[in-house]
Amino acid sequence: MSAPVHLRDATPADWPGVWRVLEPVLRAGETYAYPRDITEDDARAAWTGSPGVRVLVAVDDAGTVLGTAKYLPNHPGAGAHVANASFVVAPDAAGRGVGRALARAVLDGARADGYRAMQFNAVVETNTRAVALWESLGFAVLATVPEAFDHPVHGLVGLHVMHRAL
Ligand SMILES: CC(C)(COP(=O)(O)OP(=O)(O)OC[C@H]1O[C@@H](n2cnc3c(N)ncnc32)[C@H](O)[C@@H]1OP(=O)(O)O)[C@@H](O)C(=O)NCCC(=O)NCCS
Repeated sequence: MSAPVHLRDATPADWPGVWRVLEPVLRAGETYAYPRDITEDDARAAWTGSPGVRVLVAVDDAGTVLGTAKYLPNHPGAGAHVANASFVVAPDAAGRGVGRALARAVLDGARADGYRAMQFNAVVETNTRAVALWESLGFAVLATVPEAFDHPVHGLVGLHVMHRAL
């Protein structure tokens, strides 16, 4: 049976745990278009430093960070009623419902914060597990930008733009 997962807003003290989760995924370069050699400082700025961002963590009973998500305005000004979001679960915690729990918390949080919709700008089309998760939560693929992502294993693959109303 899976251990309980608790969801809450991240604090600055969570960063080492958040980085432990992010680093292997960003280094792998298969799901996000960050430089694979990104520094910890740049990753921290990218994950936690954007205007209007809200960062969540999923932790176990011991306080270990198992996953993290962030959401923020997809565009400023006239586009700020549409949220964008990103999710990463630690590889050693995958497949236990952490991603789905984070996604539900992000959808609920974004709705409560007044966002009217959520848009993912760049879901790698070979990331079938994530695509299936987002579709199960009501997202639709609006379009696929061809060959927009240089995958380290599959080469040039498409990026889905995914969307749902809130
Ligand atoms: C995508 C990601 C966030 C999913 O998180 P997760 O905690 O592993 O996902 P969950 O355990 O909540 O499972 C979600 C769904 O994935 C599928 N899934 C879970 N474990 C799986 C496995 N071992 N193999 C294949 N699919 C699996 C199931 O369809 C599951 O749906 P269910 O709840 O109906 O069973 C996580 O794999 C991750 O961080 N990947 C790297 C970064 C990334 O791709 N982020 C998203 C970019 S768009």
